[in-house]
Amino acid sequence: STIKVAVFVGSLRKESINKKLALAVERLAPKELVFEHVPIGGLPLYTQDFDGDYPPECGRLKQTVEAADALLFVTPEYNRSMPGVLKNAIDIASRPWGTNSFAGKPGAVIGASVGATGTALAQQHLRNVLAYLDVPLLGQPEVFIHFKDGLLDDQGHIGSEGTQKFLQGFVDRYVAWVKRFV
Ligand code: FNR
Repeated sequence: STIKVAVFVGSLRKESINKKLALAVERLAPKELVFEHVPIGGLPLYTQDFDGDYPPECGRLKQTVEAADALLFVTPEYNRSMPGVLKNAIDIASRPWGTNSFAGKPGAVIGASVGATGTALAQQHLRNVLAYLDVPLLGQPEVFIHFKDGLLDDQGHIGSEGTQKFLQGFVDRYVAWVKRFV
């Protein structure tokens, strides 16, 4: 049987290094994991006015999350936090009150950055949010990819043996973590 993973990439950029990181992880995972990239770029900006009559695209986001067995968040760091586009999608899927679509689904947070701090602070903020939303998160290994040219390509090929081994270790721990909950 398959394990469905809903993937949130916190960047809409065409050449996003975080999208490449998500593809790299997908490549290293066993076939039983099926990854679905959740589209977050076309969502409206959340307002509590939605709660009485949820917009259809927001309802579809919630359904996608609810149909998943597990979650993977791949986030850039914008000004020492997660990008607003990602927080908006999380806020939408967490509401209306009492219908948090994330509750109880195992997850992990990883990220890539061109900066030396490599998304550590963005991931820490995101962990805080997801803990509140009742997402049991893999603690270790943490994945802070310091991106350099040639490290990851558009198909998720990894240009460094060390990074490949490190990410394989992450994937193995992630799969074991998810299997404790499904
Ligand atoms: C950044 N970047 C960045 N990097 C970082 O390590 N820490 C940070 O706080 C920030 N802040 C920041 C703010 C804004 C508005 C932008 C546009 C960028 C750089 C960032 O890591 C780089 O642009 C990555 O390439 C973004 O990830 P994607 O879009 O390639 O996945």
